[in-house]
Amino acid sequence: SIYREKYRPQFHFTTKMGRLNDPNGLVYQDGEYHLFYQHGPFGIDSTSKHWGHAVSTDLVHWQELPTALHPDELGHIFSGSAVIDEHNTAGFQTGDEPPLVAIYTSAPAVQGHAWSKGQRRSQSLAYSNDRGRTFTKYAGNPVVKNIRGNNRDPKVFWHEESGKWVMILYLAKPAFAILSSDNLKDWTLESELIIPDGHECPELFQLPLDGDPTQPYWIVWEGSGRYSIGTFDGREFSLKSGPFEAVYGANDYAAQNFNHTPDGRTIQLSWMGRGEFKYPGMPFNQQMTVPRELTLRTTEDGPRLYIYPIKELENLRGEHHQWRDITLQQDTQTLQGIAGDLLEVDLTLKPGSATEAGVEIFGQRISYNLREQTLVAFGREAPLPLMPDGLIRLKILVDRTSVEIFANEGYRQMAFCVLPQLSAGIRLFADQGECEFPSVDVWELQPIW
Ligand code: FRU
Repeated sequence: SIYREKYRPQFHFTTKMGRLNDPNGLVYQDGEYHLFYQHGPFGIDSTSKHWGHAVSTDLVHWQELPTALHPDELGHIFSGSAVIDEHNTAGFQTGDEPPLVAIYTSAPAVQGHAWSKGQRRSQSLAYSNDRGRTFTKYAGNPVVKNIRGNNRDPKVFWHEESGKWVMILYLAKPAFAILSSDNLKDWTLESELIIPDGHECPELFQLPLDGDPTQPYWIVWEGSGRYSIGTFDGREFSLKSGPFEAVYGANDYAAQNFNHTPDGRTIQLSWMGRGEFKYPGMPFNQQMTVPRELTLRTTEDGPRLYIYPIKELENLRGEHHQWRDITLQQDTQTLQGIAGDLLEVDLTLKPGSATEAGVEIFGQRISYNLREQTLVAFGREAPLPLMPDGLIRLKILVDRTSVEIFANEGYRQMAFCVLPQLSAGIRLFADQGECEFPSVDVWELQPIW
């Protein structure tokens, strides 16, 4: 199968051919999760922007479908979101099922594409009455004319409390616009939000603190991987704390949350972009992170966002290897008997006198620096205090060309694209002193394709 290529990620989403970037239009409808994405179908360096499309029933196994949205006379189809119009507010419904409506940026070609010449970036709609298989562009496009500059990346959701659709839109550094609508077609500018040095691909969503519905917080997430915490009344976001860094790895950009999840979980998918990682000889370019659940939890410093792989990924677990209560004194220990190149590694560390300790996987060191209290991987570091029980907990997902690290149950996460050296194996290490490893669990994973 095409999916067995040498450098094809085996449990991270990639497109069959061409280049992908941002996830778009993430939405659930009637048993299916939709993943649309920025797709340049004409080659690995294609800059033409279409919406590619894939569906999944479990968020783990994906099936690529034909291109959903093609460029038109308003320009390329840049990033955006999708909603299920349950009450047919836009009037697009033709059958029994509520339509899936995509809200995206129409982006005229930079070098004056014959069709879109002279136009400015604006926001448009396309709708589907057959579960995203075919789309019709709305005849009244664009629905939000250019506000200013290269405004883009509309994220739309249903705001229960005000009974309206809400859009957050990137305007230009440093501002975002918040708009509202009754019908997805007519939009009112409610407010502008200034976050210094703000970034494209914004998200605005609610999370209960520690799962307690009586403590709802609102979060603004920017594509660069920063988030701010505050309140939102349907018109204005009031910043209470932040922005905070959520992304410490090299390859994690333009994340988006699924709209309309059946169980109310907040699930995010991100593009493992930036850093121009190449897949030698492959017909595709770029990959997505695994889907990850966002929660807001109390920490010593106040509420903070936690990011952790969704539990459905455990269905990929095959052969299980485990070790208990290993103590290393300025030493290494190879973990024997592990096969394959797709792994999930869960380990706990009880730092002693070692300056650094951790695990080396296929030639790449992931370590904890006790003195600095940092997690160090691939030349990057993230501040990481010990958990209340004195342990550091790591979950590491190793795919053919990427490694994702989740520390202390999601308090920190880092995503990297890499070409691992399989022959280097897997070993624990402790530098210049002692470290205990109370538990090490390794699962060989099954490919999703
Ligand atoms: C982010 C981004 C978006 C834009 C899209 C174009 O990576 O620049 O702002 O809509 O990519 O592909």
